[in-house]
Amino acid sequence: MKVELIPPTEGRFNLQNYEEAYANFDWADVEKQFSWYETGKVNIAYEAIDRHLQTERKDKIALLYSDATRDERYTFAQLSELSNKFGNVLRSLGIAKGDRVFVFMPRSPELYVSVLGTLKIGAIVGPLFEAFMEAAVRDRLEDSEAVAIVTTPALLPRVPVKDLPALKHVILVGATDGLEEGQISYETAMASASPELEIEWVDREDGMLLHYTSGSTGKPKGVLHVHNAMIQHYQTGKWVLDLQEDDIYWCTADPGWVTGTAYGIFAPWLNGATNVVRGGRFKPEEWYDTIQKYKVTVWYSAPTSFRMLMGAGDEIVKRFDLSSLRHILSVGEPLNPEVVYWGMRVFRQRIHDTWWMTETGGQLICNYKCMAIKPGSMGKPFPGVYAAILDDQGNELPPNRMGNLAIRTGWPSMMRSIWKNPAKYEEYFRFPGWYVSGDSAYKDEDGYFWFQGRIDDVINTSGERVGPFEVESKLVEHPAVAEAGVIGKPDPVRGEIIKAFISLRAGYEPSEELMEDIRKFVKEGFAAHAAPREIEFLDKLPKTRSGKIMRRVLKAWELGLPTGDLSTMED
Ligand code: WTA
Repeated sequence: MKVELIPPTEGRFNLQNYEEAYANFDWADVEKQFSWYETGKVNIAYEAIDRHLQTERKDKIALLYSDATRDERYTFAQLSELSNKFGNVLRSLGIAKGDRVFVFMPRSPELYVSVLGTLKIGAIVGPLFEAFMEAAVRDRLEDSEAVAIVTTPALLPRVPVKDLPALKHVILVGATDGLEEGQISYETAMASASPELEIEWVDREDGMLLHYTSGSTGKPKGVLHVHNAMIQHYQTGKWVLDLQEDDIYWCTADPGWVTGTAYGIFAPWLNGATNVVRGGRFKPEEWYDTIQKYKVTVWYSAPTSFRMLMGAGDEIVKRFDLSSLRHILSVGEPLNPEVVYWGMRVFRQRIHDTWWMTETGGQLICNYKCMAIKPGSMGKPFPGVYAAILDDQGNELPPNRMGNLAIRTGWPSMMRSIWKNPAKYEEYFRFPGWYVSGDSAYKDEDGYFWFQGRIDDVINTSGERVGPFEVESKLVEHPAVAEAGVIGKPDPVRGEIIKAFISLRAGYEPSEELMEDIRKFVKEGFAAHAAPREIEFLDKLPKTRSGKIMRRVLKAWELGLPTGDLSTMED
């Protein structure tokens, strides 16, 4: 197949020559950029914020925040002071290094201050997406034995405090009255907290971030990242995001997902960039307006969002001045070539795809400003990263052969454990020396990688990873549902949508109302983004002899494809 190459435009990029950088790169050189290289004192929040106070960046805007009701800006010095205060609030509660502190709230300056303050005292941050409902919140707080949660009165009803013996403190942002025992007002506590904080200096290998993510079986996994990840965040911020001193950077991801922490907090601030955060939901006009208003120069978003913008039409684009944009990037799902061509048309520039995962902690395979793009390809491995396609025995495959996308272990931001589940962790490393991603891909003769799909049943809907097992577990809690099998169904805008096949209990009949009721049940009991958009009732689900629902058969039925080997299916 002949693929069109989109050449780079000339420019002053941080990375000028990919091949040369790849050949000569050494992670150890990156460490020299951090103050701990000389002081030996490590803390990612210090490096991201406080370090800049000794430079001209002290009074530079670090955070530009707006939503429907707020419009605020914070300098590095202000963020430093606020996060110091929050660190002191946590310390006054007896929270210390290694404790898990969850943040469960919509994007707001307080969320960012909470994350930074938690890190400064060496505690581990657990970000929770605001759409999670009680069951999802419980699973994650229970597994991690979180001692504190920062949340809002609106979300509080979803935190089952009584079921969580380890959870001692609930810090409420925006509480107006009537605090109960164990509840603390963020505002009151911050008002009396000291702005001076003794930062907890940690080891590079100490935990800092616990992101729960879904696999195809079992409960969500707690992916633990350590302070050392900053090396990757910093360098990819420089070479992939191409952050430079005067950039206004906007990452549209919520910190509930890894993109929103690694590239919504760490990469920009480690590089001293001005970071835009827009609260509220996606609306095409508001998004374009955000770019216009702040003169955003570097924009990191996701294929679903680009496809929705594309769907909103080229006409609205013309109503806004988007001329500030100089670099656009994408992550989370395959970036369709059509979207890249649309970007060329409306933004007059390339959209750069990047590939990575919660587990990898940072970007691994990317398109760089200085490199030609093959639309549809994820790009090439970041310098210092060796990526390969392996067969099912762990042997490296030659170009153009599809197989397991794997990375040689040892990049700085690799996860360090799955919380309390070493067996799950080991599954990723079943071939010695390799991290096996669970994605299938191939590498072409020029070294570009092409995503092909997931090997497991994990669903990627609008760039959000959803484990079918979690949805199925919720579905079978519904009184009408006997069994449920959940798959991702290809969708032109969302990548995949969630489709549930359901067999009903005796006494229940399929109906539109029942469908709606089941959907609502998942939405309200688990998470809106995980509720099946489509439901199909079947008398019986395809199962293995051992009783496992065969999602791959459901998927084949759905797509009208051959079902493959059915020897393990029950009669
Ligand atoms: C998918 C998000 C195609 C992939 C940072 C991966 C992608 C999963 C891309 C991780 C891409 C991510 N092209 N697919 N550029 N980027 N994916 O953990 O299947 O939420 O395994 O991390 O998203 O999703 P996660």
